[in-house]
Amino acid sequence: MLSDGPVLLRPYRRSDAAAWSQVRRANREWLAPWESSLPGDWDDLNSPATFRWVYRDQRRSARTGEGMPFAVCLRSDGVERLVGHINVGNIVRRAFCSGYVGYWVDRRVAGQGVIPTALALAVDHAFGPGGLHRIEVNIRPENRPSRRVVEKLGFREEAYHPRYMHIDGAWRDHIGYAMTSEEIAAEGGLLARWHRLRARTP
Ligand SMILES: CC(C)(COP(=O)(O)OP(=O)(O)OC[C@H]1O[C@@H](n2cnc3c(N)ncnc32)[C@H](O)[C@@H]1OP(=O)(O)O)[C@@H](O)C(=O)NCCC(=O)NCCS
Repeated sequence: MLSDGPVLLRPYRRSDAAAWSQVRRANREWLAPWESSLPGDWDDLNSPATFRWVYRDQRRSARTGEGMPFAVCLRSDGVERLVGHINVGNIVRRAFCSGYVGYWVDRRVAGQGVIPTALALAVDHAFGPGGLHRIEVNIRPENRPSRRVVEKLGFREEAYHPRYMHIDGAWRDHIGYAMTSEEIAAEGGLLARWHRLRARTP
């Protein structure tokens, strides 16, 4: 479990099915433009029954070392609410030691710094106990909020990938952002950097 203030990252549980389905179904218009194209109806793809497959897949990827998936939760008055997701995926080890991060958050809590905090926690975990050296985030140019997340945290913009991924029904260009562990080691990690940046913001 990783946490900072009200933001908590933890492994998914089988019992998350109803909460996961509810938040995904309530956020169709918010999430669909940024997600991998999948055949089928949004409500079916995000049903409690589908969560069983999602859960198994995430457990498998965590077990094999291909991914580090987390439920993003907010804690308030002792109550924990599932509000999003973050995953370090496509992990390749050996001489590469690199992974790609994907994330989303419930629109009702957008703009509160939940995902920058979650990303900082996930990156510190990946560079520390996770043994990775490089993290990439690939974002559609049109996705200003997501680009703000990585830009605020100081990810380097380093590539333009034409027709990179099949998102929302078409091959979409992406901007590649990255960070290696050396870039934040001297600052005590990405969460420490994020805290300093937040303290400076009026
Ligand atoms: C991208 C996303 C994860 C950002 O998460 P977040 O926790 O809201 O991040 P932040 O609080 O740092 O806000 C990021 C930017 O969103 C914008 N924003 C703020 N409040 C917002 C709101 N209510 N609605 C929409 N955008 C908002 C602002 O531009 C903000 O940047 P700023 O800090 O310079 O003002 C979230 O917008 C999201 O889930 N979007 C849909 C899915 C998605 O795009 N996933 C990423 C694919 S690469």
